[in-house]
Amino acid sequence: MSEYVYHFDDSAMKRFSENFECRIGDNSGYHEQEHFDKLHMLFCMNRNGSMLDVGAGMGRITAVARDMVKEVVALEPDESRWADCHKAYHREPDCLVYNQSTDQFISENPGKRFNLIVVSMVLQHISTTLSRKLMSDVATLLEPDGVAIVFTTHTLEKSKGFSFSGDNERVYVPEAEFNQYAEAPPEDQHMGLPVRRFSKQDLIDTVEGADLEPIFWRQASYYRPEKVGFFAHRLNLEPEELMNVGNSQFVVVQRRN
Ligand SMILES: C[S@@+](CC[C@H](N)C(=O)[O-])C[C@H]1O[C@@H](n2cnc3c(N)ncnc32)[C@H](O)[C@@H]1O
Repeated sequence: MSEYVYHFDDSAMKRFSENFECRIGDNSGYHEQEHFDKLHMLFCMNRNGSMLDVGAGMGRITAVARDMVKEVVALEPDESRWADCHKAYHREPDCLVYNQSTDQFISENPGKRFNLIVVSMVLQHISTTLSRKLMSDVATLLEPDGVAIVFTTHTLEKSKGFSFSGDNERVYVPEAEFNQYAEAPPEDQHMGLPVRRFSKQDLIDTVEGADLEPIFWRQASYYRPEKVGFFAHRLNLEPEELMNVGNSQFVVVQRRN
């Protein structure tokens, strides 16, 4: 198994990660181990193919993919994260890191398709409208026999909702307010990151709405037993309800025939 680099220059993110565990084998792995194991398998299956990393951030997935998959394209719309990712991982001609969103890439590369598309931890930070549009771009960019894997947040159907990472008072923000905030430029987002808590059904509906067929689903990143009470209280749940619920999930999808 390859080592995945998480860019922990953000100590808040590191502290947040310490709330979760992986629940694989002896449980000593990183809490996102389930995600990375599936990615590793998909990279191996597509080693002679092409891969698109949508919303690559600072490049933790591209970093590994570029040495395992023949052709990698990474898209990151945020200029500063793109600059870091480009500096670290852009390598012509087989790993191209662009400061673009999917619609810009599609209009500049009509007909281009990928065997594997990764959308990791992007959907929960964008408006519901944009998340549907993004998945429809993924369907456009996927080879007819390709697969895409989509990672995002996860909670129970009864505790799904919208929030802002810097607003400790409100765990449930109205969808319309979330959408308006998520579509504002980052410099105007004064309550931290917009964070949507997806239920399993929310994610399935989002991919199916883009005519993509779910073929595999898993939850991951479980609350550590000593932390579950805190999170259950925040979500108005009993600790027992949340004990075996992953804080994240992923779905592997293919195009419908
Ligand atoms: C939490 S980061 C995840 C980065 C990386 N995929 C990972 O798993 O480490 C979310 C990224 O999605 C990017 N993003 C935001 N809106 C996007 C969009 N419409 N299309 C693609 N990426 C987007 C952000 O700029 C940010 O870098």
